[in-house]
Amino acid sequence: MVRRSPACPACAAPWALWYSRGVSCGGELCLVSAASTAQDDRRPTSPFPDGWYFVASRHALCEQTLIERKWLGQEIVAWCDDAGSVCVADAYCPHLGSHLGPETGGKVRNGRLVCPFHGFEYDATGQCVATPNAPAPRNAKLKLFETQVINGLVFAWWSSVGQPPYFRLPLDRRDEDGWTAVGLRTFRLTSHPEHTAENSVDLAHFSYIHGYFDVHQHGSVTVDGAHLRSAFGFKRARPVLGGRLLFDVSVVTDVYGMGYSAVDITEHTIPFKSRFWVLATPLDGTYMDLLLANQTQETDRVRRAIVGLGFLPKRIRAKLMNYILLEGQVKDVEQDVPIWNRRVFRPRPVLNSKDGKIMLFRRYCSQFYPENQNTGGQPRRMLASL
Ligand code: FES
Ligand SMILES: [Fe+2]
Repeated sequence: MVRRSPACPACAAPWALWYSRGVSCGGELCLVSAASTAQDDRRPTSPFPDGWYFVASRHALCEQTLIERKWLGQEIVAWCDDAGSVCVADAYCPHLGSHLGPETGGKVRNGRLVCPFHGFEYDATGQCVATPNAPAPRNAKLKLFETQVINGLVFAWWSSVGQPPYFRLPLDRRDEDGWTAVGLRTFRLTSHPEHTAENSVDLAHFSYIHGYFDVHQHGSVTVDGAHLRSAFGFKRARPVLGGRLLFDVSVVTDVYGMGYSAVDITEHTIPFKSRFWVLATPLDGTYMDLLLANQTQETDRVRRAIVGLGFLPKRIRAKLMNYILLEGQVKDVEQDVPIWNRRVFRPRPVLNSKDGKIMLFRRYCSQFYPENQNTGGQPRRMLASL
């Protein structure tokens, strides 16, 4: 249930005052803590808020067998066992601390991760199951991160205080029939995932930076626990295959934490549907990767002629459309990157009436910072519709 709540139900403070007051009364919706006002202007409170964060594509994992990367301030390794289960683990061996990644000589043999130092072997549960010269020590176990795989994208759960996952990513976007493969592009930024995710409700920037016009919110921005939904429409003119086309677009953005934003895109004039993901992964407290992923639905016919597209078989047409759309999204993000790279965090921004639901978004995000959670270890559940 999503309910309207113009004021905190516990202290009756109008929501717009919570930030200026800067102290939570402890009510369900009053999520702003005193700690959040003590921070400086450079970042939201923690570089690594709780959530599901992208690790790798399943395709890359299968091709490379074993990968290593920096992820949420950790060194991690990821591999697939023989049954196709994806494993994401701390990269350091419990025996004598060797890095288990391929750059050190770690490898996967018969579905087991083999340490390059003394040859301890770890199965998909992280348990050491064999060594070359003695029985495996029972307490030799890798720290594993819980995973979810959505449309071939592998995510792992992160909590800086070791909480088990308190929300899941939606699995209803997994149907692949009639959709192109997911195209991927990665950017490296000096930013924070709250900054990049906030753009999904920052309606003013779409017209000013990206040149969209007639940008308008569809209905309310709603929050139900870890899920925020924002729907809006816009028009834009873009050069495509030597011509200039007008697109009339509706989007529904589903945000689940700061690492995962999924956007359903419907273009009304051609028409077509595509799915777009914006996946922010903090690396080390300074750098983060921003992955753009896109797939497009095959359609039997196009209503509007686009230089030759209508004559192509639908599978090839969808593939070409997916490429064009992803390149367009890359250009949009290239416009955002210089801003993100040098932006500071304003806990109390000065807003105007066309700015969109920035403060609602900030309160939504605050539930993922450990310092804003109840001492019992559970996040406060936020419900709102504004
Ligand atoms: S450090 Fe890994 S087996 Fe010894
Ligand atoms: Fe943008």
